[in-house]
Amino acid sequence: MAKEINNGILKVGGVSCDKLADTCGTPLFVYDQEELEKQLWSYKKYFRSDLFETEIIYASKAFTCNAMLHLLKQYGFGLDVVSGGELYIAHKADFPMDQVYFHGNNKTIDELELALNLRCKTIVLDNDMECKALIDTAERMQKSASVLIRVNPGITAHTHKYIITGDMDSKFGVALNDEKMLMEMIESINNSQYLSFEGFHVHIGSQIFDLKAYEILIERMIKRIKKMKTDYKIEIKALNLGGGFGVRYTEEDEPNSIREVCERIINKCEAELKASDLSIKKLMIEPGRSIVAEAGYTLYRVGYLKQTPNISYIFVDGGMTDNIRKALYDAKYECDLANKMDLKKTIKYTVAGKCCESGDILIENAMLPKAQMGDLLVVYGTGAYGYSMASNYNRLNKPAVVFVKDGKTRIVIKRESYSDQLRFETDEEVIV
Ligand code: LLP
Repeated sequence: MAKEINNGILKVGGVSCDKLADTCGTPLFVYDQEELEKQLWSYKKYFRSDLFETEIIYASKAFTCNAMLHLLKQYGFGLDVVSGGELYIAHKADFPMDQVYFHGNNKTIDELELALNLRCKTIVLDNDMECKALIDTAERMQKSASVLIRVNPGITAHTHKYIITGDMDSKFGVALNDEKMLMEMIESINNSQYLSFEGFHVHIGSQIFDLKAYEILIERMIKRIKKMKTDYKIEIKALNLGGGFGVRYTEEDEPNSIREVCERIINKCEAELKASDLSIKKLMIEPGRSIVAEAGYTLYRVGYLKQTPNISYIFVDGGMTDNIRKALYDAKYECDLANKMDLKKTIKYTVAGKCCESGDILIENAMLPKAQMGDLLVVYGTGAYGYSMASNYNRLNKPAVVFVKDGKTRIVIKRESYSDQLRFETDEEVIV
């Protein structure tokens, strides 16, 4: 994405970053709403087929809030939720519950009850015990739902490579080749008065660049669907291929465009279905990161600077509390001094946060102009799994989140205050 710069200052969505920081404070998550909408629009445009219906389901774990849910609604997206909390937020945003898919390997009975009460249409079952729990809960409540079964296809893909593993040790799903368990689950769902079996769900990993992994996945899934039909007369109506499409964090990343992702998946599905003389009713994908990551920026105020024998540090007013991804995955990001965009980058800095933790580093070896206290540091591509994994470690307040578009700024999540952090503190005796 081309950067918009005015008088050496970075602009996002037509708004100067210094104004954003002065008005809304730092650290600040800034979403370029036009960029978000571009991604939504591309998925809608390219994930289409003449052979089957299609649905794009946004993985809300990447970033969710009321404003995001309203955008998704506007663009006709489905929603992947993985907890009672995500389900509740969707409900409160009036998200259409017939487009919500409830995932998770250990949904509690309370969560299943909430899903059924809120009329969440599809529950994605992870295992046989959960299958029994859902059947019992639906019968007790006399509430109905559609069901997908999450299967583990034995393909694990991460970042630049995929591996096909013989062992099925992932904690998610039922092994795709465990016919006995699948059949038992499907039979008991079909025998339940309240549940209807729709098909399979699968997700092979995140930040995947090699689309071949999805093609192999599609071959495996269609082979299994064919076998279910010929051997057991079971029809798989819906197939959900999960998300995981890679994005650009640094210039070394070469993601596929959304158009490429969609076309490769649709073409492969159509070809495999035709070759197997099969049809399905609906194909779904579940992108999270590829919708929000590159639309998001984090603005920090630079505090102190420190020179050690080998490292020039810049300290910022956030850190692992608003972006745990470097500490957790050694994730790489790019940054600039948002108020010195025209100056030459002459110094190699390590950007560190303010937490009492040596691992609280955001970026190593960042080439920047000479920094001073009060400068604004912008980290690019923080829109996914940043705010959603934020914490209050060291009792830091969670940052605010703004959406900017056409020069207008909307605060969509307020900055936490110290008193917010005390709202659950109490000293009440309970009778146990
Ligand atoms: N569907 C399912 C069932 C998933 O488990 C996930 C992500 C997605 C869809 C969306 O994947 P995406 O398109 O966002 O890659 N916290 C990690 C990512 C964990 C992803 C978990 N599942 C990170 O910061 O990279």
